[in-house]
Amino acid sequence: MSAGQKIARAAMWAGIGLTAVLVVSTLLFVHAESTWVHPKALGTEESFRHSTTGTEIMPLPVFQVLPTLFPDQFQPGGPAAGDWIDQFGFIRGEPGVNEGLPSGFFVSNHRPKSGAPSPVQFVGINCSLCHTSLIKRSDSDHGVLVRGMGSTSLDFIAWVDGFKTAILDERRMTPENIFSTYEKESGRELSLSEKLMIRLWLTQTRKTVKQLEPQVDNPYGGADLLNAEFMPNGPSRTQPFRNLVRNIMDRPALLDRGYCKLPVLYEQKDRTWGQFDGSVHDRLTRSVLAAMAIGATMYNLSTPEISNNVEQSIAYTLDLKPPKFTEAFPDQKLDAQKIGRGAKVYMAHCDGCHGHPDQNGSWVRGAAQDVVIPYEKLGVDGERVTFRYYDTLGDALVDSFPPKQPLRPKREDIRPGPLGSTRGYIGVPIVGAYARTPFLHNGAVPTLAALINLKPRPALFYRGANNYDPIDAGLVVPSTPDPKRYFRFDTSVAGNSNRGHDYPWAYKGPGWNEADLQDLLEYLKTI
Ligand code: HEC
Ligand code: HEC
Repeated sequence: MSAGQKIARAAMWAGIGLTAVLVVSTLLFVHAESTWVHPKALGTEESFRHSTTGTEIMPLPVFQVLPTLFPDQFQPGGPAAGDWIDQFGFIRGEPGVNEGLPSGFFVSNHRPKSGAPSPVQFVGINCSLCHTSLIKRSDSDHGVLVRGMGSTSLDFIAWVDGFKTAILDERRMTPENIFSTYEKESGRELSLSEKLMIRLWLTQTRKTVKQLEPQVDNPYGGADLLNAEFMPNGPSRTQPFRNLVRNIMDRPALLDRGYCKLPVLYEQKDRTWGQFDGSVHDRLTRSVLAAMAIGATMYNLSTPEISNNVEQSIAYTLDLKPPKFTEAFPDQKLDAQKIGRGAKVYMAHCDGCHGHPDQNGSWVRGAAQDVVIPYEKLGVDGERVTFRYYDTLGDALVDSFPPKQPLRPKREDIRPGPLGSTRGYIGVPIVGAYARTPFLHNGAVPTLAALINLKPRPALFYRGANNYDPIDAGLVVPSTPDPKRYFRFDTSVAGNSNRGHDYPWAYKGPGWNEADLQDLLEYLKTI
């Protein structure tokens, strides 16, 4: 054998050896992968509270060390204003349950977007993050947890910007810093495959955030996260259509001021068209869009485990009601005579658009319930229904699904569209009226007393972890900021108007009757 032949033969054996190693490691990987995911069949409440809805964000070890690595982003109000859970208005979880994560976060072994299995656990957000709230009457009150109520404190968009700013910090956000901080804090060593997955995730996520920057601009960070001029949503609101326009139409949506509060999800079985503007029909479409708005994809939503969780989560809301007012506030006694008189005021002035509960609590439809009423007629803020692309988003949304994709919405299930294009808001059953605070789609009216114009509506107030006042039925809003109530809600800013919906009468306008309004308020506390 010549020297050349020897080399060729050695190369051949090396090649065979390498192939064998690759085959064996692939088989081992496939076996390992099959052990990473353990789909569980969960009931409706468990799905709503803890399950993956295809909305994984980051590996659990990263989630756990972020506040330590980035106190500037996760405690933007300074250390005295509490930990990150307090500062962004999340609801504290229970130790030992669901890794002790705050309400609305889940852990799974799925990777973001694809839903492929992962050796390291991922943390995601699900429906209860935004659709569960804590009613507190003072800063030291532990509060009553109310599932299905829109969170009154969660400053979600600020938290996301803080997270993106951390991702872009290439000096501090390194795999080595993550690993060493995690291992020091948890006392557990990460395995090789976990570390690999975290590296991969960091590279991909940083790339995605950077790619989006020219379109959506730099994320805000630090103290700017609390500044209403830069982060105009503030607590308990998002800008759902800005995100849709960005994700689906690839436009910056710079002038989108469609601020929208986190709504209650009660008695969804009584709803025909969903969203404040009545723009989405069909329950499946509503839940698919809800999950996609927070990061799920048509691919992971097609896996049986995730699609089942989304269906179960929505099923949980079909008959859901909040606790009765007197259960949430046992020391509040309601006056039966006032309630009786208030019911008459309600039937005369409100029943048409909202309907009313019968004696068994079933909802009796109003003549104009489920009708979209032009925003000009209501006199309420119109930004949510006048953003650029309001008319074209529906087509773009449907077309973003391949033609045969099973989750593709029907065009007629989206408005504006074949079944209507009124720019306005829809009259819906207001079951659990007291738990809908802050009121109107943009959350500009803090109490029921102010909404029905028994009391004047505050023009400038501060939002954050606001306490609840059972007398006026709504949030107590101070007129000067403090560390817990930092967000300046100025109702003269576009998108924040607190005007309109002057039913039954404008404040101290013609017909205004204080005693009738006191009675109406008492009645509203019972529905
Ligand atoms: C990041 C916060 C957030 C999360 C998480 C979230 N939602 Fe929502 N949801 C909203 C907002 C904001 C709206 C109001 C949109 C509008 O009308 O403009 C909404 C509206 C809805 C509606 C329509 C309600 C109505 O009164 O018409 C349904 C149903 C819904 N969400 C279900 C879900 C489900 C199911 C999940 C979990 C898969 C979920 N949401 C997760 C923020 C969230
Ligand atoms: C002409 C139809 C109409 C009449 C009459 C009417 N409403 Fe409304 N109501 C609406 C619409 C539409 C909305 C949603 C507006 C928005 O979100 O900006 C609404 C919103 C509300 C909300 C806030 C719901 C939430 O989740 O923020 C409450 C509470 C309410 N109405 C109570 C009443 C009461 C009480 C009366 C009678 C005094 C009344 N409404 C009369 C159409 C009406």
